[in-house]
Amino acid sequence: MGTVNMFEEKKVIRKDELVDEIAVVVGTRPGIVMFAPIIHELRKGNVPHFCIHTGQHYSPNMDYEFFKDLNLPVPEFRVSGVSERKTHGGQTAAMLEGIENVLMNKKPRLVLVGGDANTNLAGALAARKLRMLVGHVEAGERSFDWRMPEEHNRRIIDHISDLLFATGENGKEHLLKECVQGRIFVTGNTIVDASLQHFEIARAKSDALERFGLSPSSYGVMTTHREENVDFEPSLRGSLEGVSMAAEALKLPVLLLVHPRTQKRLREFGLEAWAQKLPGIKIHDAVGYLDFLSLVASSALVFTDSGGVQQEACIHHVPAVTLRENTEWVETLEHGANRLAGTDRESIVKAAKEAYVAERSWPVPFGNGDAAARIVEICLRALKE
Ligand code: UD1
Ligand code: UDP
Repeated sequence: MGTVNMFEEKKVIRKDELVDEIAVVVGTRPGIVMFAPIIHELRKGNVPHFCIHTGQHYSPNMDYEFFKDLNLPVPEFRVSGVSERKTHGGQTAAMLEGIENVLMNKKPRLVLVGGDANTNLAGALAARKLRMLVGHVEAGERSFDWRMPEEHNRRIIDHISDLLFATGENGKEHLLKECVQGRIFVTGNTIVDASLQHFEIARAKSDALERFGLSPSSYGVMTTHREENVDFEPSLRGSLEGVSMAAEALKLPVLLLVHPRTQKRLREFGLEAWAQKLPGIKIHDAVGYLDFLSLVASSALVFTDSGGVQQEACIHHVPAVTLRENTEWVETLEHGANRLAGTDRESIVKAAKEAYVAERSWPVPFGNGDAAARIVEICLRALKE
C-alpha cells in the first residue's frame, strides 16, 4: 500500500505555491458597489489582482449595469450554474465549488470578500479551506437578528477571516467581544468612497429625475428586498400600505424601485395589480447605480430595508425610515438620520412624519472616503509578511 499524499488527495495548496496576487470575490449588487473603490485602487497601484463573479446576481439591472456605471472591467472569472440553484445551501455550494476551482488554478495568497451575502460566505470558505489569507470588508456588523441569513453569514465569515476590515468602532467592538481569530482594522466604509467618487458623475450623467418626472426634494424613494420582509405576505403588504399611507399624509409621491426578489413575491402572492393601484406609490424596476445615487441624493425621504441604502441616505443627508425592527448601522440612528419602523403601517407613517421634518445636519459616521486606500495598503503589508 502506498503512502497517502495529503497535498495530492485533499488538493491542499502549499504555502510556497501561492502567488502574490489578490482575488476579489463579487456577485451581488451591493458587493459590486462596495468593491468598486477597492478595485480602482488596486488598478491605480498596479497591484496584481483578479475578480471572480459568483453569478449570484445576474439580471442586467443587478449586475452588468453596475460594472458599467462604476467604470469597472468585466470580471476575469464567472461561476456558472448558480442562478438555477434555489436554496441557500444549493446556491452557496455551487458558488463554493466554482470559486474553489478558480482559486486552485490561480493560487492567490489573499482573497477579499465583502459584506454578508451567500457570495461572501462561499468565497471566504473556499479560500479558508485552501489556506489562503481571507480578508473581510465590512467585518463586525451585527443586527443580532438570528432570523436573517446575513447574520449567519457574517458571523461565520468573521470567524474564518485573517484580516477584518471594520467600518467603525462598533464593528471592532463586536469582533473583540466574539474573540475572532484574525486581525482587526478600522478603515471606514468603502460605500462612502463609492458615493463620493460617483456623486458628480451621477449628477452629470443621470437623467433619472427627468425620466421619472420628479423635481428635487419633492418625492421619496423606496426599496425593499429583505427575505424576512418580502417572503412573508403580511410584512410585504404592511410595508407597502404603510409607505402608501405616509405618501398620502405627507403629499409626497414615492418611487418604489423593485428588487427582483420582491417582484417575484408580488407575483406569487397575487399582489401585483394591488400594488400598482396603491395611492402615492409609483412602481418601477430597480435602476443602475448612477440613477439610484442621483434619485436618493435629491429625494426628501427614503424608505428602505437595505443596508447600503440606509448608509447612502445618511451620507447624502436624506432622512431614512427603515422597514426593519433593527439595523446593523446603529450609527445612523444616533443623530436622527434614520428611524426604525418595521413593517407595521402605523409605525411607518409615524416615523415618516418625524423624519420628514427632521434636522438634516447629522455628521456622516462612516469615514471620509479613504477606506479603499487603507484596505489596499493593509493587504499589501499582509502579502509581504
Ligand atoms: C441577496 C443577499 C442579501 C443582499 C441582497 C442584495 C443572501 C442570503 N442575500 O439577497 O443579503 O442584501 O442580495 O440585493 O445572500 N433574482 C433575479 N435576478 C438577480 C438576482 C436575483 O431575478 O439578478 C431573483 C431570483 O428569483 C432569486 C431571488 O431574486 O431567486 C433572490 O436572489 P438571491 O440572490 O438569492 O437573494 P437576494 O434577495 O438578492
Ligand atoms: N441600488 C441601486 N439601484 C436600486 C436600488 C439599490 O443602484 O434600484 C444600490 C444602492 O445604491 C446600494 C446598493 O444597491 O449601493 C444596495 O444594495 P441592496 O439594497 O440590494 O443590498 P444591501 O445593501 O441591503 O445588502
